[in-house]
Amino acid sequence: MALSRRSRPKHSMLVQQLLALVQEIRDRGETCLPSERELGEQFGVSRVTVRNALAELEEQGQIYRVQGKGAFVSTEKFHQPLSSLTSFTQDMDSQGMVSGARILALETIPAPRMVAKLLRISEDSQVLLLRRLRSINAEPIAIENCYLPSHLGQVLQSHFRQDSSLYALLQKHCGITPVWAEQSFEVGSLFPWEQNLFGEKAPPYAMCTTRLTFDQNDNPIEYVESKYRADRYAYHVRMEAQHAYGEYRP
Ligand code: GLP
Repeated sequence: MALSRRSRPKHSMLVQQLLALVQEIRDRGETCLPSERELGEQFGVSRVTVRNALAELEEQGQIYRVQGKGAFVSTEKFHQPLSSLTSFTQDMDSQGMVSGARILALETIPAPRMVAKLLRISEDSQVLLLRRLRSINAEPIAIENCYLPSHLGQVLQSHFRQDSSLYALLQKHCGITPVWAEQSFEVGSLFPWEQNLFGEKAPPYAMCTTRLTFDQNDNPIEYVESKYRADRYAYHVRMEAQHAYGEYRP
C-alpha cells in the first residue's frame, strides 16, 4: 500500500481509531464493522483512506474482509511464546489473563508403552495420568493429558488443586524444576467428547502438541499430549538468521 507523505499521519491516526473501534466491538461480543462509507463519515475521511486503513488492520490479523459482506473483527487469539519453557499459568499471567483448570482425571494407570519409553521407566511400571481442561478467562481452551512418574502421585494427590500450577507445585513440593523440553505441533481433529468440552462454537480440529519435559538433572519428568482450540490459540517465536543466504541466482 503506497501512501503519499501527506496522507501518512491521517492514515496512522485512522488505524489507531479503528483499532479502538475493533476492541469496542469485541468487548460488546459483536463482530461486524460498519461499512467503508459509514466509517468515512464517522471519522471524517475519504473512502480510500478508510480502505487503506482496513487493509492494514487486515494485515495485522485484527480483521478479515468477506467480498460483498464487509469487514469483521477476528477472534482474539491467546499467545504462547516458544522461545523459553513456560507453564500455561505463566503464559496467561504474562498476558493479563486468568488461567483455570478442571481436573478430568488424576489416576495411576499402567504406563502406555510409548510413555514408559519416553519417561525412561520400565514397561510394567505405573504412571500418573493428570487430565485437565484448561481455560482462559473461564473459556475452555485446551485439553492436556499429562503423564508423570507414579512416585509423584502422593504429592499431587495431597497438594494439587483445580487451579494449581503443576510446574510451581513440582518446584515447591518435589524439588523438581522443569528446565527444558521438546515440543511438537501438528493439526489434528477432536473426538466428540473433546468437542463437547470446548462447546459447539469450537471448530472440530485442534492444534495437537506433545511435550517431553526434563528437570535440572536432565531426567524426563512429564510427557504431555495436548489439544488446543485452533481458532483461539497462536504460537510465537523470534528467529534470528545464523548464516548468510548464499549467492543470488537470478
Ligand atoms: C503447558 C504445557 C504442559 C505443562 C503445563 C504446566 O500447558 N503444555 O506440558 O504441563 O504448561 O502448566 P501449569 O504449571 O500452569 O499447570
